Parts: sequence; C-alpha cells; structure tokens
Amino acid sequence: MRCAAILRVIVILLTLITTWYFAEKMYSNRDNMKSLRSIFEKKKAQFSCGNEKPCPDDYFAFKIISGAANVVGPSMCFENSIIMSSIKNNIGRGLNIALINASTGVVIKTSSFDMYSGDVKPLLEFIKPVAEGTLVFVASYDDPGTKLNDEARAVFASFGSSYSKKIGFRDSWLFVGGKGISTKSPFEQHIKNNKETNKYDGWPEVLEMEGCIPKKTN
Ligand SMILES: *[C@@H]1O[C@H](CO)[C@@H](O)[C@H](O)[C@H]1NC(C)=O
Repeated sequence: MRCAAILRVIVILLTLITTWYFAEKMYSNRDNMKSLRSIFEKKKAQFSCGNEKPCPDDYFAFKIISGAANVVGPSMCFENSIIMSSIKNNIGRGLNIALINASTGVVIKTSSFDMYSGDVKPLLEFIKPVAEGTLVFVASYDDPGTKLNDEARAVFASFGSSYSKKIGFRDSWLFVGGKGISTKSPFEQHIKNNKETNKYDGWPEVLEMEGCIPKKTN
C-alpha cells in the first residue's frame, strides 16, 4: 500500500520532469530560431538597396530592375534610395535613364523616353551633352527599341554598352555605363523579344541587376 503510493509519486514526478525538460527544449529552440531569423533580417536590411552583398566603402551600390511586359514599371535604386519607380511617378514606357555624378553620387537628372510612338530627338538631347564623369543608368519598359536610331545607339556604345546596336522592339535591356569610360561596361543585360522563348505573351522576362561601382576619384 505504502509502496504503491511512493511509486505513484515517483511516476508523477518523472512525468513532470520529462514534460518540463521537453517544454524547455522546445522553447529554447524557438528562441534560437527567432534570434537566427532576426540576424538574417538585419543583415539583409543592412545592405544598401537590399543587395545580396555589401559594397566596399569607396563604391556605390545599385540595383536596377527592368519593366515587366507593359504592366509593371522598372525601378532603380542607388545608394539605398529609389531614384526611379512607379511610386516616384518618374518612369514611363520606353527607355528610363538616370544620370549620376560619378564622384559624388548626386543624381543629376532622370527622364523617360517613349521609343514606340515618340521621337528620338528628346533622347538625343538628353544623352548627347552628358559630361565626362557621369554615370548613365538605363532600364527598359515595354518597348525600348523601335525609335532608337544609329546616332542614339552609338552614344550608348560610347558609354560602354555592348548591346545598344541590337536593341529592338520589346526587348528587355538594363545598362549601367558612363561618359568617359574606355572599356565595355560589365553591367549590362539584354534579352531579345522572341516568341519561342518569351516569358510573357509578347515580352521576354524581367531583368534584375545589382552591383558596386567604384567612385570616381580625381
Ligand atoms: C560632380 O560633382 C563635382 C563636385 O560637386 C563637380 O566638380 C563635378 O563637375 C561634377 N561632375 C559632373 C559630371 O556632374
């Protein structure tokens, strides 16, 4: 009788102890997961423009995204601020271009040019006078190619573009170059509009490009 009572107490105690043990384990695990997650979230937010990798001190961080078909506008982030986007209401179909001072990182001006029903003249007036030491950011939206002429293509090529001569109707195109760079830019992506490979009905897929640009030192 007494023996049974003692046994019962022992069983109850054991049950309590194991329950406490597992509960404790689960809680601490959950806390670990939480702190792990917050570390990752902090890391991600820390990098300029939400980029995967940080840029060294003497570099500018950027991320640019082309338009999606004729539906979602492109966006450009430079040094953690959005300089062109639908929300900023400064983008449009065609070519979206931002000019940035390559030493200070100050945005000189931004504009968009309709390359389907527009005229190439305003584009030429925008890109031809660009001064030495200016970074040139380009993102396509819907149709960047129809009205591009040889003169405009040559100006982009002089900024370091490899594809400007081939841009056509509804291609996707991203480019970062500069006035006064003598080499081809490493920051360029291009997809041809091609019925066989298009992601959307009449358009190729969206392009996204991020990177670090060395600040120009004089
Ligand atoms: C960039 O900014 C510096 C300092 O304000 C200025 O001297 C230089 O002319 C600017 N360059 C361009 C291309 O705007």
